[in-house]
Amino acid sequence: MVLKKTELPQVANSIMNALHEDEIEIINELYQACHEGNIEKIDQLMDLLIYDIEDHFSTEEELMKESDFFAYPMHKAEHDGMRKEVKALYESWKKNRKTEDISNFIKNRLVPWLLLHIARWDSTTAIHLGD
Ligand SMILES: [Fe+2]
Ligand SMILES: [Fe+2]
Repeated sequence: MVLKKTELPQVANSIMNALHEDEIEIINELYQACHEGNIEKIDQLMDLLIYDIEDHFSTEEELMKESDFFAYPMHKAEHDGMRKEVKALYESWKKNRKTEDISNFIKNRLVPWLLLHIARWDSTTAIHLGD
């Protein structure tokens, strides 16, 4: 396990907290599958991760648009940067099949990014949105 659900920073909007909890669950499962070297499971979980990240980011973006949140372009730009990184990881996985590329990305990039992103961007957005 890379991160416990209880270690996620909580924001002032329950939809966003639920999105983050779902995501960390998938990330932990994927990390475990890499540890076990379970290729079939990694393939499934990589597809699920791509789907889930898009669901997470686009839901937040819709909420921001609906409420005319001023920082929408900056917050979306942060999402777009990570969308690209995850897509690159997906492509390199399909090509090279290196489980350590995924586990290193999760541990050194995705999870630290997520924690910082939630603390910096999602928390202010959630205050604006309310619950
Ligand atoms: Fe988020
Ligand atoms: Fe976000």
